[in-house]
Amino acid sequence: MNEVLQAIRQRRSIRDFLPRPVPQELLEEIAAAGTWAPSGMNTQSFKFVVITNPQLLSKLSQAVDPESCFFYGAPALILAANRKDYEGAVPDCAAALQTMFLAAHSLGISSCWVSQLNGRCDEKPIRELLTQCSLPKNYAVFGAAALGYAKAEAAVPARRENTVLWVK
Ligand SMILES: Cc1cc2nc3c(=O)[nH]c(=O)nc-3n(C[C@H](O)[C@H](O)[C@H](O)COP(=O)(O)O)c2cc1C
Repeated sequence: MNEVLQAIRQRRSIRDFLPRPVPQELLEEIAAAGTWAPSGMNTQSFKFVVITNPQLLSKLSQAVDPESCFFYGAPALILAANRKDYEGAVPDCAAALQTMFLAAHSLGISSCWVSQLNGRCDEKPIRELLTQCSLPKNYAVFGAAALGYAKAEAAVPARRENTVLWVK
């Protein structure tokens, strides 16, 4: 099996991170990988907000849910955002996120897809924080990547059978 196929199988959602920061150059590689994802009609209207500032991460966590951290205390979070009025916003962000997860895995960085910001970007406290991140008002978040070093390996969820239907 080649390295890409191995990465596809080995990537796991990690929900427990060490406090160790992710080096800037790795975050740059991961975000750059996102920009190479496919987009409908090559729109490339997605924007990726890379957040590592602990105070901002804490405020975002509080604004979304004061009870628990939706990104599991990861030291880095990449928001995948897109124009609210673009019909390809969700699939384009999803393609970019999966591309970034695989890039992260290839660099030894663990990740988890987190969706708690979806549909909540125009709540005042959340929008204020997104504006601080320079996200334009006509953009919303359609998914995010929690990134960091895993505390422990995650269990491998079994793959369902009968997912692939063949027609020959
Ligand atoms: C659209 C989408 C949204 C997800 N949202 C969350 C989330 O908010 N929080 C979370 O812990 N995992 C989230 N996940 C991760 C899934 O729970 C995870 O991919 C699944 O359990 C399979 O585990 P694996 O990624 O290790 O194969 C999301 C995955 C997808 C595709």
